[in-house]
Amino acid sequence: MNARSPWSEDRATAVIAANRHLRGALLPMLHALQEEFGCIDEEAIPLLARELNLSRADVHGVVSFYHEFRRSRPGRHTIKVCRAEACQSMNADGLIDHIRRRLKVDFHETTADDAFSLEPVFCLGNCALAPAVMVDETLHGRVSPARFDAIAASTLATEAAR
Ligand code: FES
Repeated sequence: MNARSPWSEDRATAVIAANRHLRGALLPMLHALQEEFGCIDEEAIPLLARELNLSRADVHGVVSFYHEFRRSRPGRHTIKVCRAEACQSMNADGLIDHIRRRLKVDFHETTADDAFSLEPVFCLGNCALAPAVMVDETLHGRVSPARFDAIAASTLATEAAR
């Protein structure tokens, strides 16, 4: 499951201060904020701009340039689907279409019930068992649309049983 600390300006200010001494401090600050809060909260933008003497547009530009920075909170579970060559050759695109339809989200989005975030990834090191999907920390190989549905259902069932 994903960590999801609620936004706190005090905490964000402390995280930013802890990375102030680093060279090219904006990227380490962004990574640290995402680690803390699960995303780059809109309210972090002016704090970063002020700290680094940048414009808000400059900070926005960096956040949107790098795909690894999220603008919204992640779902309780992250689904990473491989889009690299071996998986593509085993119809990863068909699987991705199925997942998008089933969850009603695109990449970098979170389902309406907050259960799943969908992210692309380029090789999970499981090429021999393509197409590959990772749900939280668990790697799955030879994932068909039906198998994906079973994995998603069992992830939710495990969560409900806790
Ligand atoms: S190409 Fe998909 S796991 Fe390597």
